[in-house]
Amino acid sequence: YIRKKMNNNEERPPPNSPDEVKARVSCGSLIINIGKCLLLIIVVPPFLNYASLQREGQMLLQKDGQIVDVGLGQKMQLLCKGDGKPVVILDAPTGMSSDVWFHIQEDLSSLTKVCTYDRMGLGFSKRQMQNETTGTERTWGVSTTGRMVDDLYRLLQATEITKPFILVGSELGALNARFYSHIHDVQVSHLVMIDPIPEDIFEDDLWKEYWYGKLVPSLQAKQFCAATGLSRMLIILGALEPTVRGQNVSEEVIQRQKYLLCNPAHQSSAVDEHYFLNESAAQVQDISQFKPLSSRTSVTVITGDHFDQEIPEQLNQMVAKLQKKFLEVSYPSANHIHIKGADRRMIYKEPSAISQHLRKLVNQRQANHFSA
Ligand SMILES: *[C@@H]1O[C@H](CO)[C@@H](O)[C@H](O)[C@H]1NC(C)=O
Ligand SMILES: *[C@@H]1O[C@H](CO)[C@@H](O)[C@H](O)[C@H]1NC(C)=O
Ligand SMILES: *[C@@H]1O[C@H](CO)[C@@H](O)[C@H](O)[C@H]1NC(C)=O
Repeated sequence: YIRKKMNNNEERPPPNSPDEVKARVSCGSLIINIGKCLLLIIVVPPFLNYASLQREGQMLLQKDGQIVDVGLGQKMQLLCKGDGKPVVILDAPTGMSSDVWFHIQEDLSSLTKVCTYDRMGLGFSKRQMQNETTGTERTWGVSTTGRMVDDLYRLLQATEITKPFILVGSELGALNARFYSHIHDVQVSHLVMIDPIPEDIFEDDLWKEYWYGKLVPSLQAKQFCAATGLSRMLIILGALEPTVRGQNVSEEVIQRQKYLLCNPAHQSSAVDEHYFLNESAAQVQDISQFKPLSSRTSVTVITGDHFDQEIPEQLNQMVAKLQKKFLEVSYPSANHIHIKGADRRMIYKEPSAISQHLRKLVNQRQANHFSA
C-alpha cells in the first residue's frame, strides 16, 4: 500500500512545472552533497593527517640529533649541542618534548655540552611494541619515573656521556632528576629542580580534583583532536599554536611542535605521563626515604611566583607549601632561586633568567675543576 501510495505520489505528474522538478532534484542532490561533506569531514582529515605525519616524521627529525639504541628494542632521540665539561642534561616537564628547552640549550651550549632528549613515547623517541623480555615494565609502569630513569640511564650509558654531569629537570623532569640522582649518585654532581612536583601532592583532594578532573581530560581531548585530524585543521586556522615560539625560534622547531600536536602517539604518551604522575610521585617518595641523596651532589631549586598562573590561588599556595616541606626534609642545604613574575612556563617564557643561573653553576664547576 505504501509503495503504491509512493508510486502514486511519484506518478502524480507535475505536467507543466519543470521548476518543481528542478527543486526536488536539487534538494535531493543537496542532501547527497551534505552527506558527502559529512563523510569528507569525518574520513578525510584523519587520513590526510596520517599521511602528513608519515612524511613529516622523516623530514622533521632533528638534524644534529641522534637516534640511539638503548637496548630492549627501544630507540631514543638525543640532541647534544656545544662542547666541554661538565655536561648538562635537561629533562622536560610533564608531557613535553625536548623542544621546550630550545632557548636554554642554545644559550648554554656556548659554555659547555648540553643535551636534551625525548622521553620514551614522546617526540621522536617512539615506543616500540614490548615483548616479554623487558623486565622493567613489571617493576615500573610504562609511564612512571622509575621506568623513565631506567631509560635515561641506558641512553647515557649508550652514548658515553662524560660523568659526573649536571642534571636539570622541570616538573615530572624534576621527579626523574631526583630519582636518578638518588640512585646513580656518583653520576650527578649537581641536581637542579625547576618547579618540582612535591611528592605528596596527590594526597590532597583539591589537587587530585584539578589534575584528574580538569587537566587530564583536557589532554585527552587534545589526543582525540590529534587522532581525528582536528588538530591539524585548528593549526591551519591558527586556533592552535606551538608552545615554544617567538622571534628566535627556528622554523624547524615550530614545525616539529606542530607535528607533535597532530601526532596521536605523542599526545597519548603525554596523557599517560600526566595520568601516572601520582605513581611517579609515590616512587620518588619511596626512594627519598630509602636512599637519601649523597652529600657530594649539590642541589638547586628554581621556582617562580606561582606554580601555574592559570590555576586557582589556593592550589598554588598548596604547591608552594608542600615544595617547602619536601625541600626541608630531603634537601636541607639546597640553594633556592626565585624568579620574579614566573610560573611553570618559565623555561620557554623566561629562558634567560634560568640559563643565567645555570651558566653560573657551570662556571663554578669549571673553575673548581681547573683549580683542583
Ligand atoms: C624481545 O626483545 C629482545 C630485546 O630486544 C629481543 O632480543 C628478542 O628477540 C625479542 N623477542 C621477541 C619474541 O621478539
Ligand atoms: C633573540 O636573539 C637576539 C640576538 O641573539 C637577542 O638579542 C634577543 O634578546 C633574542 N630575543 C628573544 C626573545 O629571546
Ligand atoms: C593514582 O591514581 C589512580 C587513579 O586515580 C589510582 O587508581 C592509583 O591507586 C593512584 N596511585 C597512587 C600510588 O596513589
